[in-house]
Amino acid sequence: MTAPLLDIHLTDDDLTAALRTDARTGLTASPKSLPPKWFYDARGSELFERITELPEYYPTRTERALLEQVVDEIAAAAQADVLVELGAGSAAKTRLLLNALTAEGSLKTYVPQDVSASALRGALTEIAAEYPDLGVHGVVSDFTDTLHNLPRGGRRMIAFLGGTIGNLVPTERTEFLAGIHEVLEPGELLLLGAGLVVDPAVLVPAYDDAAGVTAEFNRNVLHVLNHRLGADFAPDKFEHVAVWDTDNEWIEMRLRATEAMTATVTALDLTVDFAAGEEMRTEISAKFRPESLTTELTAAGFTPTHTWTDPARRFTLVLAERR
Ligand code: SAH
Ligand code: AVI
Repeated sequence: MTAPLLDIHLTDDDLTAALRTDARTGLTASPKSLPPKWFYDARGSELFERITELPEYYPTRTERALLEQVVDEIAAAAQADVLVELGAGSAAKTRLLLNALTAEGSLKTYVPQDVSASALRGALTEIAAEYPDLGVHGVVSDFTDTLHNLPRGGRRMIAFLGGTIGNLVPTERTEFLAGIHEVLEPGELLLLGAGLVVDPAVLVPAYDDAAGVTAEFNRNVLHVLNHRLGADFAPDKFEHVAVWDTDNEWIEMRLRATEAMTATVTALDLTVDFAAGEEMRTEISAKFRPESLTTELTAAGFTPTHTWTDPARRFTLVLAERR
């Protein structure tokens, strides 16, 4: 077994600097908002893992079941030497791909990428031990920034699973797909997992579970602001809100101030006033229609070659070739 490599393109200081910018912009805007990548410190990554096990949160288990069914087809079509996984997190479902791609014989290297160094470190150690013949090369970076720092060489498939594409606002999504197009060579592949538009009676509880784990995940962004920027938000004074936006076809997570209050962000020399009931957006989770997803991929310079969907039509996997 070769020791896994870990390239850190985002140091702790870089993260603090980026959060300063995002917090100043988002907390002084009207309405206030914060980007979802700030959920994922070590605690946030753990809370996300707990979300994936909740009875209401169907996306992870639906995508896993779908992957189990079609992974051999994916491996045969891909013939990939390198699997790059963006926003890999704990890489729990990735084992299915790694098993199929190694059985198919081509895979040499796995490159998990994430903004959360803690999630990535755990995944790297486990995967390097489970797959001793595989090169494992982790990358800590922000996939909304540049993808040019990903290692090159070999026929690559970039996997972006879990429906994380839905957490990007439409302009970010367009830029993100353009970024992938730019780093891939013609003929290389993108494997995209995306949540589909489903009945809000199923969707909303997935983002507002009875045990309150998603609420705690949502409030974690306030803990991150407190730790990283010396802020004094009182997380227990913010309620978790999840609403289905019918026009945009996305779930919007917000934090609602339960009373009027002022928070101080020491590192920004900023005070932030909240009115009672004021809501701050912390995440969107867009759901897709199969036709619009393939249209978007085609417009971004990819040719979708395979689409798989679970029987309840809640989640889709699309394999697309870079033109
Ligand atoms: N792919 C896994 C994890 C999804 S959770 C799954 O399917 O279960 C989303 C992951 O994306 C988290 O691990 C989070 O740390 C990472 N992430 C979120 N925003 C990111 C960004 N801008 N750049 C890199 N990683 C990001
Ligand atoms: C990571 N991402 C796909 C999750 C989602 O479903 O949008 C994040 C999440 N937010 C609330 N629950 C899970």
